[in-house]
Amino acid sequence: MTPTDPIIQPAAHTADSASASGPTPSRRAFLARSGGTAAALALPAPFIHAQPAKLKVGMMLPSSGAFAALGTAINNGFKMAVAERGGKIGGREIEYFTVDDESNPAKAPENTNRLVQRDKVDVLVGTVHSGVALGMAKIARETGTLLLIPNAGADDITGPMCSPNIFRTSFSNWQPVHPLGKVMAERGHKTAVWISWKYAAGDESGASFKQGFERAGGKVVKELGLPFPNVEFQPLLAEIAALKPDAVACFFAGAGAAKFVADYAAAGLKDKIPLYGSGFLTDGVLQAVQAQAQGLMTTLHYADSLPSARDKEFRTRYAVAYKMQPDVYAVQGYDTGLVLAQAMEAVKGDFGNKQGLIKAMEGVKVDSPRGTWTMSKAHNPIQDIYLRRVEGEQNKYVSVAWKALADPARGCKLG
Ligand code: BEZ
Repeated sequence: MTPTDPIIQPAAHTADSASASGPTPSRRAFLARSGGTAAALALPAPFIHAQPAKLKVGMMLPSSGAFAALGTAINNGFKMAVAERGGKIGGREIEYFTVDDESNPAKAPENTNRLVQRDKVDVLVGTVHSGVALGMAKIARETGTLLLIPNAGADDITGPMCSPNIFRTSFSNWQPVHPLGKVMAERGHKTAVWISWKYAAGDESGASFKQGFERAGGKVVKELGLPFPNVEFQPLLAEIAALKPDAVACFFAGAGAAKFVADYAAAGLKDKIPLYGSGFLTDGVLQAVQAQAQGLMTTLHYADSLPSARDKEFRTRYAVAYKMQPDVYAVQGYDTGLVLAQAMEAVKGDFGNKQGLIKAMEGVKVDSPRGTWTMSKAHNPIQDIYLRRVEGEQNKYVSVAWKALADPARGCKLG
């Protein structure tokens, strides 16, 4: 893993960095903004032809803890999209402010406020962990700050908490595993055990899997869990061995996923009880557990070998820039950059044109490495979900498990 960024180095996260943007008007809340154009008109004549103010982007991602590698990949992908535009979006350079959120929900309010209140960022980008994202979304709703979520799937954010200024470019927790239930039932499994971390992402993925599996005729016989980011899997693996279900389905991600795959194989279960998961189980971890992961089948909105020129080109460029292979997190970061860039271009860099920005993001059609996707009324991607199988160091594309799947977005009143 190479945490450095060979394309653009982010600005240091200091109070100086906030003030170094020159005569930029301080603009606290996205929805309350009067606009950069008006501010430019108020400047004395010699300044009229000055460069437009930099767009202040607050990157709140994990760079330590269980999801550190996921945060790095998102950061890389976002900056790659910006670099493809010569380092500018909508004609404006970007000033980055970064916070390591440690995937710690308890620190989410303080970390988010650092970016919103202290650094006065225009846009918040984050994060990976659903619990942290729920904290960010609460503050984004209260302050009107534009929030782009490049991973965390917490269903409520594009459900009852949905908001005009909050957009997700990744998935809802319901999305990737709903098709998994159907796939497993079609593969002849009648009973399954669900296992995951006990927090929003694990619980919501479990509920979605159960719904999909049982609608397709299967039965979830037991739901097992442990607190995030605990990786003491042994007692739960012993319980699975005793229950003898037809199959096991799970949600784990990052370093914990690698440990679960290794422990499942070491417990002698891999050849006895087939293991499935949402694709986070095997994305970004195959270098660590290639041997133990061979043949595992998962569902996700990305695969390593999609049959598209767009994906091949993206993968080549990413590998050249970062000296590592991209994964779903890199794609989500990249797409977040694409969505922001397209919206900024639509308003010609006028971040103050909030209605124009929102309209552009709502109407976005993203030419993504994962395949073209559109934004739902609740501001969540409508996208294909793929069935993948681990072969060598890749999550190989097998088939489209569900075409153009939209989250039910229960409780969202937008649109
Ligand atoms: C989540 O907490 O929403 C999450 C974390 C890692 C991968 C996928 C989802």
